[in-house]
Amino acid sequence: MDRIRIVGGNALNGEIEISGAKNAALPLMIAALLTDEPVTLLNVPRLADVKQLERILENHGVDIAVHGRRRGDREMGGQRLTITAGDIVDTTAPYELVAKMRASFWVIGPLLAREGQARVSLPGGCAIGTRPVDFYLEGLRALGAQIDIDGGYVVAAAPGGRLKGATVAFPRVSVGATHVVMMAASLADGTTVIENAAREPEVGNLADCLVSMGAKISGIGTDRLVIEGVERLHGTSHEVLPDRIETGTYAMAAAMTGGDVLLRGARGDLLQAALDSLGEVGVTVSHETEGLRIKRNGNGLTAIDVETQPFPGFPTDLQAQFMALMTRANGTSAIKETIFENRFMHVAELARFGADIHVDGQTATVRGVPELKGAQVMATDLRASVSLVIAGLAARGETVVNRIYHLDRGFERLEDKLSRCGAEIERVTG
Ligand code: EPZ
Repeated sequence: MDRIRIVGGNALNGEIEISGAKNAALPLMIAALLTDEPVTLLNVPRLADVKQLERILENHGVDIAVHGRRRGDREMGGQRLTITAGDIVDTTAPYELVAKMRASFWVIGPLLAREGQARVSLPGGCAIGTRPVDFYLEGLRALGAQIDIDGGYVVAAAPGGRLKGATVAFPRVSVGATHVVMMAASLADGTTVIENAAREPEVGNLADCLVSMGAKISGIGTDRLVIEGVERLHGTSHEVLPDRIETGTYAMAAAMTGGDVLLRGARGDLLQAALDSLGEVGVTVSHETEGLRIKRNGNGLTAIDVETQPFPGFPTDLQAQFMALMTRANGTSAIKETIFENRFMHVAELARFGADIHVDGQTATVRGVPELKGAQVMATDLRASVSLVIAGLAARGETVVNRIYHLDRGFERLEDKLSRCGAEIERVTG
């Protein structure tokens, strides 16, 4: 298995091009199941999770064309995919495919809405908590679906082949359940109201795409979505948002190592809470026309407390990276994880660098240390893995991050982007 080797200590200086958001691209690709016409997505990142979802969609009978570069395209720009679900030949999403990635479970919404039935394996994904699917099932039941669990599969059917609009009030904010109910409701008979809907920018990106496919959705960007079902949806062309988690990750890497980095294509409004925290820590964030500039001069980092929250709060997907940053701050930081119950798997690995972190329930207390030392580390989820890269960039000596499979799921050309800014980082194959 490939590893990443880092020799820490170099400041980051230069430019990093921000890719399209994985967590926006995945639901947008799934939304293409809602129409028999082609859906073209622009700025799709080249990631293992995108490839995996292509396999899943192809199994349903979907054709996917990858377009080459066009004149005027940026050298590092994302790819353009045209996804055509002309004829859905199979409404089963099998265990072997779904177990690798939780988002693939989301095909249940469009399959049920368009075909009146779906058989989808219960999902897998990163090991960050139990991650049940009860909100999805309650939401789809409210729209009239009959649902059974059989042999590890969710077997769903819409009586008469059509779902019916209803009010769905989620007990807590769920990004995936909002995606699924919104997609399903777009093709249901009547009006659906989603109360306590997720406001994450990726939900807005999907809603905008559905509207351009002919869906009638209001309240986009708020926690109350109103969806008037339509008979059919049509093809469209839609751009994937810049990745706010990749943006925050490189911002924290720059903050950790010092230096001056332009995050080209980044949008500050997508991660204002995280940028505000960086400001408090002592990092200068400036909004420029080409993106965001992150600068830290020789001054140290100040420890602050953060608590993860649904958007617009501090994102759980930046918690591990922020913890890496706080290991080198002056003072003590309390980091509270409120979204997932078991998202501190990186703590034991950060300790290998000499970090001083103590976990009590949902809160990690991080006491800044004067120095991190390079180490052999390994991580079990995507954002945890990249927090180890951030620690490695600042640590003295050599770090080897093992099992980088998770990094490839969510970070496009990570070592390339960082080494262009002066980091000593390389992939070691085999
Ligand atoms: C999305 O996961 C993201 N994944 C996650 O990013 C992200 O951490 C998460 O949203 C929160 O922002 C993608 O977009 C592909 P949730 P999702 O449903 O939709 C509980 C990454 O690294 N819950 O908003 O699965 C759940 O257990 C990934 O890119 C239920 O209890 O997250 C969690 O505690 C990791 N029952 C909370 O809600 C349900 O039926 C929020 O989860 C559904 C969720």
